[in-house]
Amino acid sequence: MYYSDDIVEEVRARNDIVDVISGYVKLQRRGSSYFGLCPFHNEKSPSFSVSPSKQMYYCFGCGAGGNVFTFLMEYENYTFPEALKVLADRAGVSLPEVEYSEEAKKQRDLKSAVLEVNKMAAKYFYYQLRAPQGEKAMEYLKGRALSDETMRRFGLGYAGPYSDELYRYLKKKGISEELMKESGLMSVNERQGMYDKFWNRVMFPIMDINGKVIGFGGRVMGDAKPKYLNSPETVIFDKSRNLYGLHIARTSRKKYILVCEGYMDVISMHQAGFTNAVASLGTALTSQHASLLKRYTDEVILTYDSDEAGIKAALRAIPLLKAAGVSTKVLHMDPYKDPDEFIKALGTDAFQERIDQAENSFLFELSILQKDYDMKDPESKTRFFQAVAAKIAEFELEIERENYIEAVAEKYQISFDGMRKMVMNCLMQGVPLRAKTTSAERRQVRPEKEDGILKSMRLLLTWLSEYPGLYKTVSAYVKPEDFTDELYKEVAEMLYEQLEKGELNPARIINHFTDPQQQRTAAQIFNTKVRAESQAEQEKAIRESIYKVVNHGITQKTKELGAADIQGLQKLIEARKRLQELGRLHISL
Ligand code: CTP
Ligand code: MN
Repeated sequence: MYYSDDIVEEVRARNDIVDVISGYVKLQRRGSSYFGLCPFHNEKSPSFSVSPSKQMYYCFGCGAGGNVFTFLMEYENYTFPEALKVLADRAGVSLPEVEYSEEAKKQRDLKSAVLEVNKMAAKYFYYQLRAPQGEKAMEYLKGRALSDETMRRFGLGYAGPYSDELYRYLKKKGISEELMKESGLMSVNERQGMYDKFWNRVMFPIMDINGKVIGFGGRVMGDAKPKYLNSPETVIFDKSRNLYGLHIARTSRKKYILVCEGYMDVISMHQAGFTNAVASLGTALTSQHASLLKRYTDEVILTYDSDEAGIKAALRAIPLLKAAGVSTKVLHMDPYKDPDEFIKALGTDAFQERIDQAENSFLFELSILQKDYDMKDPESKTRFFQAVAAKIAEFELEIERENYIEAVAEKYQISFDGMRKMVMNCLMQGVPLRAKTTSAERRQVRPEKEDGILKSMRLLLTWLSEYPGLYKTVSAYVKPEDFTDELYKEVAEMLYEQLEKGELNPARIINHFTDPQQQRTAAQIFNTKVRAESQAEQEKAIRESIYKVVNHGITQKTKELGAADIQGLQKLIEARKRLQELGRLHISL
């Protein structure tokens, strides 16, 4: 089966590698990369790195590496088409029509049939709420201060007191039992056969971003348990990928999105004019939720319940949002439990004030962390600040780290320089080459001997991918053909082309190779590091690498040169001369 480069690249680009790998490996940010324990060999300290900017992974221990496709192929043992399919589904990219198998076609038809049934049910519940038998339910909702307009906007409804009303309605409409079962709206047991899952509850239809009903939540109208029943996962309903209220929130023009826990919170916030509120519906926020949010906003304000469960949920959500590139603040609700209660008690203006005062998520994390330390005890206090430093070291940008060092120094009244030193120490320890592997591990994972010239080539290509600004300088000396290894040369050609166009995209280069061994090597090429203490040393290393690669290229060509090729010789002499000037070359990162 053949897929075009464009579709392969689209699927790759829509699946963030950190997001995908986080589903398999626990990753922690360190500088500009994430690190975790390598899933491809046994190790105790993390040498497996994932780079968000390069969209690649690479293990400094065993050399496993590649892009998001390679990862699934290696980890799940998928073939390339299988990995492509899984990732296309994950990102909601539809592969070209002709590629649909009979099976996939059936699945698609089933989805639209289930959507149709959900729509019928939503209409039915909606009508019931406004009919005489819905009077009690209507009273309940009015008692919770919901206006007719709000109820209409959220399509609220009512499931009547008998447990076969919807069943009979759908039957009359010609819906098969098979389809009813698929819709998740029915329960089945041996004694009663098939009967309604929801009865005597007020109904909250759950809609996808296009406003299509994909499931329901139903609430009892009193204190009975369980308070809510929800549709099970079906072919169209996946809780971890949908957010309640997002179909409205996404059109609100606010800069940020409010994320809360429940149906009633979303509805009261919207009624109070905060139409940018969504809820993750009683489940913890997932990384898929985070990427979904990222499509609509760069900033989330968490308005979780003020109880312990809400705090825990916030602490879990913050890193996921951060990994998706969403910055997060935390709204303090105290002394009220949730947004619904807060707004009822203090009103819209007070809530807006709390939004304006929402706390930076990092400082929020610190105040929670602090509870584990006795700040009156010097030793414990030191350990707290060490933990703080380790967390600050996870920020990618230096300026970000400096800002947080400043904020922390101010908040805790400690010295800026002291904190900064601690952070520096953490960063030093974080350099991957220093990750300690046992000698047994090293033997196991370093099969091939390092070839000096290849290493210089790799260094150059890694640097070019990390500091595209070097391209002009490097390309003046080093041409793709100077990379004398065939695979390296191919990689260099593609990288130069990207840099020329200003479209740096190393992960796309890996798409080009189909053999996992080649993908590995390509990933290695983009993940080569030297131990350099300072910027000056690093710059020196770059100069040396340029020298070695060009010099090696000239030597190779000299060997191949025919004795009578005066012109060729002349060229090589020129090249050597130019190489001598390299010492004076100014390189800056
Ligand atoms: N939830 C659930 N099942 C339960 C309890 C809660 O699915 N048995 C989910 C619902 O999506 C609910 C959310 O978790 O909206 C938050 O729960 P909770 O705070 O208890 O409910 P509220 O939304 O605040 O509803 P209410 O104000 O009616 O109590
Ligand atoms: Mn609540």
